[in-house]
Amino acid sequence: MRTNLDQLKDEALTTIAGAGTPEVLEAARVHYLGRKGIFSQRMKELSQLATGKRKTTGQILNAAKNEVAAALKNKGQALKESRVGEGTWLDVTLPGKKPLTGHLHPITQTIYEIENIFHKLGFVRRRYPEVETDWYAFESLNMPQNHPARDEWETFYINDKTVITPHTSNGQVREMEQFGSPVRMINISRCGRRQSDLSHIPTFYQFEGLVVDQGINITHLKGTLDFFVREYFGKERAYRLRPTDFRFTEPSFEVDVTCGLCGGKGCRYCKAGWSELGGAGMVHPQVLKNGNLDPKNVAGFAFGWGVERVFMMRENLNIPDIRVLYQNDLRFLEQF
Ligand code: DAH
Repeated sequence: MRTNLDQLKDEALTTIAGAGTPEVLEAARVHYLGRKGIFSQRMKELSQLATGKRKTTGQILNAAKNEVAAALKNKGQALKESRVGEGTWLDVTLPGKKPLTGHLHPITQTIYEIENIFHKLGFVRRRYPEVETDWYAFESLNMPQNHPARDEWETFYINDKTVITPHTSNGQVREMEQFGSPVRMINISRCGRRQSDLSHIPTFYQFEGLVVDQGINITHLKGTLDFFVREYFGKERAYRLRPTDFRFTEPSFEVDVTCGLCGGKGCRYCKAGWSELGGAGMVHPQVLKNGNLDPKNVAGFAFGWGVERVFMMRENLNIPDIRVLYQNDLRFLEQF
């Protein structure tokens, strides 16, 4: 017959076997074998038993107690051994290891910013082919085969009739053909040129604005540039238009902004305080014709600037070499 004592012993042995840490094991020891533990109490209760019974019960109790003590000792040893080599302990209050999070490349961010600024003026974002026919990249823009003006564009030719577009102006005639008048587009695409130095890189982005409608004149161009410069660079920066000539605009301008590195005082990068961002002008009548529009009816303005250039010319961004943008050095990219 199982006695009360057998039950007590089983319960103690089960608790000891299940103890996972020295702390839990110690609590079990105090509970069963401590000075005020269950076995001590049972020992005291022996005195109340009749003499005959006291002896046998005493013996059983002692045997059970010894068994529990032995189990405690073994388990203590086992727990100690399982910790050998563990060495350290787990501090659950330490901050966790965070996975690295990425973000958009600064030039992608700039593209979105530019897109948003022009969106406020009602410009629609477009993309036109980066591998382009000679016609859209040059000829439709008033630069026939062998025209010397083409030299400016340092073009990568894929074959006689196909190029990697050297500018986003290739979208102008495509846009007019596709949508007619009125036009208000901002084409942001990748371009290529055979150039590599502090301020040039063989593959880069441009954004090309084109507005065509009845009654468009140069004040609309100026107003648009005012808006962009104020929104992107801030109120403190100024820009200027310098007369130049492009075959696809008349009149034509080069647009400079006060240098963001020196604040317009003049430095190694900009020399005289101004940095060139790109070109602009009133769309040449021949270009309108090539886009199936009638220059007697409508007029247009256009501009084409470098995305990397405007990014680098932003205040406080001291980036002296455009090429670091595409070297994928995380120490650089993580700053944006
Ligand atoms: N396509 C010219 C370039 O890459 C820039 C340009 C000049 C674009 C005048 C225009 C423009 O739309 O009107 O250098």
